[in-house]
Amino acid sequence: MRLFLDTASVDEIRAAAKLGVISGVTTNPSLWAKEGGGDYRDIVLEICGIVDGPISAECLSRDVEGLVEEARRISSWHPNVVVKIPIDEVGLEATSRLSKEGVKVNMTLVFSANQALLAAHAGATYISPFVGRLDDVGHRGMAVVEETMQILECYHLPNQVIAASLRHPLHVIEAAMAGAHIATMPYSVLMGMLRHPLTDVGIERFLADAEKAAKAARARGKR
Ligand code: E4P
Repeated sequence: MRLFLDTASVDEIRAAAKLGVISGVTTNPSLWAKEGGGDYRDIVLEICGIVDGPISAECLSRDVEGLVEEARRISSWHPNVVVKIPIDEVGLEATSRLSKEGVKVNMTLVFSANQALLAAHAGATYISPFVGRLDDVGHRGMAVVEETMQILECYHLPNQVIAASLRHPLHVIEAAMAGAHIATMPYSVLMGMLRHPLTDVGIERFLADAEKAAKAARARGKR
């Protein structure tokens, strides 16, 4: 399972990229607004310069012609840009057309396996079930990832599932166990995956013991 960062913060992306474990980035208008706005194209291009992998940028048009035009324009920004399109009648029709032209679509705001199946048939390269938002309203969001994976595997469909709207490191484990191709997560969740108090304690103990051992060796050398 590949790991993507779900943020529009260039600082977070730079910090995560240094670790060498991130292979893509997803953004959306809320994440863009959280960073104080700015020119979306400039931000997406800056991200493309940091991470060499799929970078999802959201389309906002609400009619098919407008959406197709917007998606073509956004996808021309950089070869790694993937257009994010919400699933509804407009999004599905636009995705069917765009996928035939070779435009890579990340079908977003997916909340059911039925929606995921439709996105697959429309030719979306990526399908993003939103796990956390379903959990928030009392449904088990990861079930949509599990069902979607089963359906794609059953019919040998080539689309890739991005487990999205992940809220904590346990979601990442569950997404990996469900066989999701990708998990996209906030920087805080990535750090949550990395950190463990026993690792910190272990490092401190090894350093202290190494110091003790070196001291003992020095003392023996003096004799
Ligand atoms: C994914 O592509 C979305 O940007 C994201 O995962 C949404 O997550 P949220 O529910 O935390 O806003």
